Amino acid sequence: MAENNDAPMKILVIHGPNLNMLGHRDRAQYGTLTLDKLNTLLRKEAQALNIELSIYQFNSEEKIIRTLQRQRNKCNAVILNPAAYTHYSYAIRDTIELLPVPVVEVHLSNIYEREDFRRISVTKAVCLHQIYGKKEQSYIEALHFLYEHLRKKS
Ligand code: DQA
Repeated sequence: MAENNDAPMKILVIHGPNLNMLGHRDRAQYGTLTLDKLNTLLRKEAQALNIELSIYQFNSEEKIIRTLQRQRNKCNAVILNPAAYTHYSYAIRDTIELLPVPVVEVHLSNIYEREDFRRISVTKAVCLHQIYGKKEQSYIEALHFLYEHLRKKS
């Protein structure tokens, strides 16, 4: 993608399966915000940084993969919460690997202090960074991390 210092950075945000149910999930793990409220918070933060966000939520692996493939040359970076796919989707891992842009993996909960199966992320190794356990702040931190990363690169 052509770099223009005045143009807003474009960041793709993808929320994986069951994140449309935030507000109805375990609040201790996922916080109290609905997905709409989380997205509003993200858009507000992005606006202050002059970042353009495209936000999607998908419950299927196929849609996550298709969107990552289609958007690979249309954004400068990706914030991805693969949700349960984190722990076993080699298909999503392979898609992340072929992207020309950095990906930050985020989790609302602390995946390292829950059930054993959640301790494994098959996607982490192909992401630039992983942020977890800070509820909605995980996403906000990812936004700031990518903002700084892309600014340094430009
Ligand atoms: C999650 C953690 C995953 O283990 C879980 O399957 C989710 C959400 C998180 O944001 O904490 O659905 O990715």
